[in-house]
Order: sequence, then C-alpha cells, then structure tokens
Amino acid sequence: MLVCVCKRVSDSMIHDAYEEGIQSVESLGQHLGLGQCCGKCKPYAQQVLDTASKNTSASGVQMWSPAGASTLNVWNPAA
Ligand code: FES
Repeated sequence: MLVCVCKRVSDSMIHDAYEEGIQSVESLGQHLGLGQCCGKCKPYAQQVLDTASKNTSASGVQMWSPAGASTLNVWNPAA
C-alpha cells in the first residue's frame, strides 16, 4: 500500500528500510524522501514503523522437531 503519495513510498519499502536499520520518520525522509512534500504521510509512516518494530520483536524462534514434521516454538527473550 502506498504510504507517501508525493514520493511514491509504499509500506513494504518502509519495512525494507526498517530491516536496514532505519527507525524514524526523519530517517525515512532522508533515505526515501517520505514526508518531504506535504508531510501528511508522516503519522501513518510512524504507524508502519511501529508495526515493523512489533513484528520484529514478536517473532519467535523456531526449532526443527525430530518427532515429526512440526516445529517447536521456543521462548523469545526479546518478545
Ligand atoms: S504524502 Fe508524503 S509528503 Fe505528501
């Protein structure tokens, strides 16, 4: 979904930028141009960054289970 109409920045581009270490709307502006025209996208861009952050910290570690085809979810200290 397009987040910044002016600079044509999508939510997936923001997620990719987050994975590369960009964690603020200001940094998104420097790297992708987001928010550099009308600025109306900044609040939603912040929400997308927050979601990316939660998805990263909430992801569990999975281990292969020798007992079958299923995997085991283990405790994630970062969650
Ligand atoms: S919609 Fe992002 S700067 Fe206008």
